[in-house]
Amino acid sequence: SIPVPSVQELASLQLEAEPSRYIRDDMDSIISTVPSDNTLRVPLIDMTKLVDSESQETASKASCCMQRRGIFQLINHGVSDESLRNMNKQTQEFFDLPLKEKKRWAQKPGSLEGYGQAFVTSEEQKLDWNDMFFLKALPIEDRNLEIWPENPPKFRYSQDMRQIAVALIRFRAMGLEIETRELCAAYEEGLYQIRMNYYPPCPQPERVTGFTPHVDIPGFAMLLDCGDTPGLQVLRDGQWIFVKPLDGAVVVDMGQITEILSNGLYKAPEHRAVVNKSKERRSIVTFCYPNLSFKVGPAKELIKLGIPPLYKTVTVEEYLGCFFNRKLEVPFIDTLKI
Ligand code: SIN
Ligand code: FE2
Repeated sequence: SIPVPSVQELASLQLEAEPSRYIRDDMDSIISTVPSDNTLRVPLIDMTKLVDSESQETASKASCCMQRRGIFQLINHGVSDESLRNMNKQTQEFFDLPLKEKKRWAQKPGSLEGYGQAFVTSEEQKLDWNDMFFLKALPIEDRNLEIWPENPPKFRYSQDMRQIAVALIRFRAMGLEIETRELCAAYEEGLYQIRMNYYPPCPQPERVTGFTPHVDIPGFAMLLDCGDTPGLQVLRDGQWIFVKPLDGAVVVDMGQITEILSNGLYKAPEHRAVVNKSKERRSIVTFCYPNLSFKVGPAKELIKLGIPPLYKTVTVEEYLGCFFNRKLEVPFIDTLKI
């Protein structure tokens, strides 16, 4: 990987324009621009309603809702406001540290973990207006304590996100009428990685991306917006829609492991992050995977219904291997198609 400057450093230079590596003049060429009224919203799912009813019918409804959009805001998710506030505060404290201080936790060559950027593999590659801090959080043995700063300390946050993941996966499996126990166990023992994002203000926000359009690869990702500056957008019917931050809610978006498991029924939504001219933004994303030996493939119950499997079955370990060795020209999920 090739080292690139931190965008925080660039932003502090008060340039009139971003260096050309950040400029994406093709940004909205194929799709229409963001509606200014912000009236379109992603669905809201109330977890207490699911828990209280514990019925197939409610689970089916929620499942349909997840399925239609692939992204939703989850409220009453059972994680305390204190835990969310704490994580938020620690993330802010980390990004507020002087650059020199943060560089003590800089990524090592070839590794995503630590403070830096996502993989940059060529000098020509376009860059996102984003600095990140990436940590493997669970299982605890996977924590690389060398790059675990005092700040954030050994947070409970990852266990809290796991608790939501397991609950959600159970309702989703109930809704799809597939075996829940094995799936829940796989997420109980799953891999959880945390990516904290910092998007400084940007002189020409309409010409850069904070986070390039993409589809997530895990089972799902859970996102916490740290303030009220909108940044996350999801592609719906050819338009980029803002997901407005909602205090206390967690934004959940389905990843491609879920798409495969549902044999293509759930679609992992394409999303991106945009930046702002005057305001900085922070977000915390938890990537949730089943454990490494779990077999990712279309659920057998769905195949029994006579629907042919669209995807090969591979372990999570193989799946991640395929992802990191993929060719960028082909959409990753297509490499797993039968
Ligand atoms: C992501 O897609 O993982 C990050 C988007 C965001 O910061 O809102
Ligand atoms: Fe994402």
